[in-house]
Amino acid sequence: MPFAHITGWGMAVPERILTNFDLEKIIDTNDQWIVEMTGIKERHIAREGQTTSSLAVEAAWKALSVAKLKPTEIDLIICSTSTPEYLFPATACLVQDRIGATKAGAFDLLAACTGFIYALNMAAQAIKSGSLKNVLVIGAETLSKFVDWTDRNTCILFGDGAGALILQASDVPGGVMSTVMHSDGSGADLLTLPAGGSKNPATEATIRSGLHYIHMDGREVFRFATRVMAHATREVIAASGILMDDVKWIIPHQANLRIIDAAARGLKLPIERFVVNLERYGNTSTASIPIAICEAAQDGRLQKGDKFVLVGFGAGLTWGAMTAQWTGVMEPEHIIRPNYYRLFARTRSLLRRLWLRIEGIIWGRNKA
Ligand code: UT7
Repeated sequence: MPFAHITGWGMAVPERILTNFDLEKIIDTNDQWIVEMTGIKERHIAREGQTTSSLAVEAAWKALSVAKLKPTEIDLIICSTSTPEYLFPATACLVQDRIGATKAGAFDLLAACTGFIYALNMAAQAIKSGSLKNVLVIGAETLSKFVDWTDRNTCILFGDGAGALILQASDVPGGVMSTVMHSDGSGADLLTLPAGGSKNPATEATIRSGLHYIHMDGREVFRFATRVMAHATREVIAASGILMDDVKWIIPHQANLRIIDAAARGLKLPIERFVVNLERYGNTSTASIPIAICEAAQDGRLQKGDKFVLVGFGAGLTWGAMTAQWTGVMEPEHIIRPNYYRLFARTRSLLRRLWLRIEGIIWGRNKA
């Protein structure tokens, strides 16, 4: 059975930073409250025209470049997001076109902030079954577009960003080990974007009632999160047949420092064993775990052979955890030139669009 190795990683966040002090100017809040209650100091906010797919594409190019993998070698793209570009088509398809992944299947996965763990697991299972070799897994969000900027309970928390990993098949032991995934839909209304789907399609009334914004019962989500984080971590470590002492890093969903603190206490681990960066990005939902992985890889915290745990929770309710062993950069079979592939992808996309039009004209005429 092949192993599923993480061989590439990349992240992208908007350049624009919104600090707690900036928020003080638009809503009734203050830096001290936000830092004490969440640990967040600033977050990145997409500018106009910057979308979930544009951040996803930027992160994907970086991951491909680290893995030294051609976009044409990707078998599947999974984009985990709660803020897709459209209800359909899938944001993953937009990424497929923009990077020129000519032979890849592509779909979106929605498990909110836990989504990246679910998506990585789907990718790893496909690789371990022998059916796929190279999978691009992306977590990408532009939550700022769905936040009510007059609601101080939510707007202080969220930020925008994307992270991407390349998973590759190899006979060498390592990579993704075990995963646990859980859900409890009885808590669906605790964190929701109520309108825009088939239950509440967009109407003047839904817009007037603010139903196209994120609605959250913060206290209940907090209680749920503190309950499940330590439990899921223990569960996945047991499923892997390893010990807590074998784990070098815990990389949690970056929602709130108090939630991560509670998990650390529950696991009787020092907070230093956790990768934490929420003070600079806020809660980027499904992008938070891959962004934290990228930073830990880039600054050398993650070293070849290190075992680590990913653990997250979110709307649904969903929660889950994964154990994996860090592979680092693999010896490439060939050198790729990212700029060449960017140009190829752009040209191919333009020609494909043109060809679809021409085909439409030809078939339309024939019909008439
Ligand atoms: O990816 C999953 C996403 N969701 C989460 O992770 C959310 C988890 N929940 C939380 O992180 C916390 O519930 C919050 C940080 C959102 C809020 O903390 P809390 O301890 O649950 O506060 P609270 O909502 O019970 O509010 C306490 C007080 C209230 O004032 P009163 O009624 O006691 O006078 C709020 O009105 O704090 C007030 N408050 C604020 N004050 C200043 C609420 N938001 C703010 C704010 N600035 N932004």
